[in-house]
Amino acid sequence: MGLGSDMYRQQILDHYKNPRNYGELEDADIEHVGENPMCGDTIKMFIQLDDDDAIEHVSFVGDGCAISQASASMLSGELRGRSLDEVEAMDRDDIVDMLGVELSPMRIKCAVLAEKVAQDGIAIHNGDVEVEETTTE
Ligand code: FES
Repeated sequence: MGLGSDMYRQQILDHYKNPRNYGELEDADIEHVGENPMCGDTIKMFIQLDDDDAIEHVSFVGDGCAISQASASMLSGELRGRSLDEVEAMDRDDIVDMLGVELSPMRIKCAVLAEKVAQDGIAIHNGDVEVEETTTE
């Protein structure tokens, strides 16, 4: 494992211990919760839109492992200023790039939970699907 990977690991731990944008967002336009059924860990995402439907604020609350919570914390910063279409087009590679570490298939489910919750929340907001609760399955 090289230095670069250590740096990313430290960054993940830092986001886990000091999560950014943690807390409920009052007046969120999009609010959605999801769970990783393998472990029961949860993340709820809150998204507030500006007048042009771009993302103005993102926050989250959750309970779970370092990867799932750090991923939600990092994503909350990454999504700010983006359009909903851009977020819907994201995939797991974007999350792996954001985290900067190699992950096993089990850990990938932890990593993408926040992204899936945000994407399903957006799809519900757009009227595309009816999802009650997102899971990583
Ligand atoms: Fe539950 Fe990671 S172990 S989301």
